Amino acid sequence: MAIELTPENKAFIKTHLVDRHHTNTLKWDALDDRFGNPDLLPLWVADMEFKTAQPVRDALVKRVEEGVFGYSYIPDSYKAAFIDWQRDRHGITVKPEWLRFDTGVVNSLYGLVNWLTEPGDPVLIFQPVYYPFANAVTDTHRKLISCNLLDTPQGWQVDYEALHKIITEDKPKLVIWCSPHNPVGRIWKPEELETILTPLVANGIPVISDEIHEDFEIGEQPFTSVLDVADGRFRDGVIVVNAPSKTFNLATLLHSHVIIPNAAWRKDYDSFIKSIHQTEPSLLGVVAGEAAYRYATAWLDQILQIIRYNDGQVREILRQAPGVKLHPLEGTYLLYVDLGQYIPADKIRDFVQNHCHLAVDYGAWFSPQTPTFIRLNLATDPAIVARAANQIVTALQETVPAL
Ligand SMILES: Cc1ncc(COP(=O)(O)O)c(C=O)c1O
Repeated sequence: MAIELTPENKAFIKTHLVDRHHTNTLKWDALDDRFGNPDLLPLWVADMEFKTAQPVRDALVKRVEEGVFGYSYIPDSYKAAFIDWQRDRHGITVKPEWLRFDTGVVNSLYGLVNWLTEPGDPVLIFQPVYYPFANAVTDTHRKLISCNLLDTPQGWQVDYEALHKIITEDKPKLVIWCSPHNPVGRIWKPEELETILTPLVANGIPVISDEIHEDFEIGEQPFTSVLDVADGRFRDGVIVVNAPSKTFNLATLLHSHVIIPNAAWRKDYDSFIKSIHQTEPSLLGVVAGEAAYRYATAWLDQILQIIRYNDGQVREILRQAPGVKLHPLEGTYLLYVDLGQYIPADKIRDFVQNHCHLAVDYGAWFSPQTPTFIRLNLATDPAIVARAANQIVTALQETVPAL
């Protein structure tokens, strides 16, 4: 096993792990509804079984005990906490005037598609990718174009040749990019980002970069924001969406950022967005986010160690089934695993649910190109991850005669 859990990691798990059954948890309590079987072991939905950091819980309790939940605004102290985090953790420059707020990244994607394109316009994504990207395009009656990522022996790569062809032939009006990438787990290198952004920005195609997974640096590759590629050369052509929610396990507190460095775009965005939603900021989302950015570094570092350990466990256990393919995990806490050497696409669901007894995100949800993949969530109890990996191996041994 690549890394071991330290006594500190084990103590952290003991104090932070929760049994989420019977808490109206999508991942655990909606299994019957979503998968037709309440007894599956769930490794789907990208949230964690760990309580958020103590200072975040303390800030929330304090605010809740004040007992008044009237209209609020986002204080400068919140903006400073976020901007400091971006600078100190990642070296990213964000100016306060670039910041806008929303009640979720997916919400923002819909708003941005509506703002930047018209019905029927081509919008480019890179599949396999987080499926709400495709939904944000098709639900708003835009035309979905995919530049499919290439699954190479060196890992997932952008198909630059296909990208150039799409730019000249399909003429996309907008790009939605995922960085770090869910589900393939890449943290794109600065030179890759530059190669992708150069022709897009040169052709006046706005790029939305969904950077919600920025804090999950699992391997050696550090995260680079599109805001800082080539010394900020692309800033006027990009919009970043991110949030404290993925990092600190706060998804339902509904608070996120839209970062728009281009002043003319900001003006246009401000006048457009009020025509489609007029939401108030999420009071508790802001309280939690500020406390997290200020005081939850040590908590996050524990979580990252547990994810690395879980990644190591899965690889170790799956070595018993050498035809299972998975690339090194650079970013996110999501592992994209290809069972295609053993299980055909039309049998994947039956295999995963009826033989492995797992609930996962299926590769077909992310792209028609990856029907034999499953996505496993590693931000959970190491015992759950080991059980899931062992259930896959046992099921393969029962199903594949040669194993
Ligand atoms: C790439 C990506 N964007 C956005 C989200 C969800 O963001 P929100 O809950 O703020 O809508 C997720 C959740 O898994 C994600 O993986």
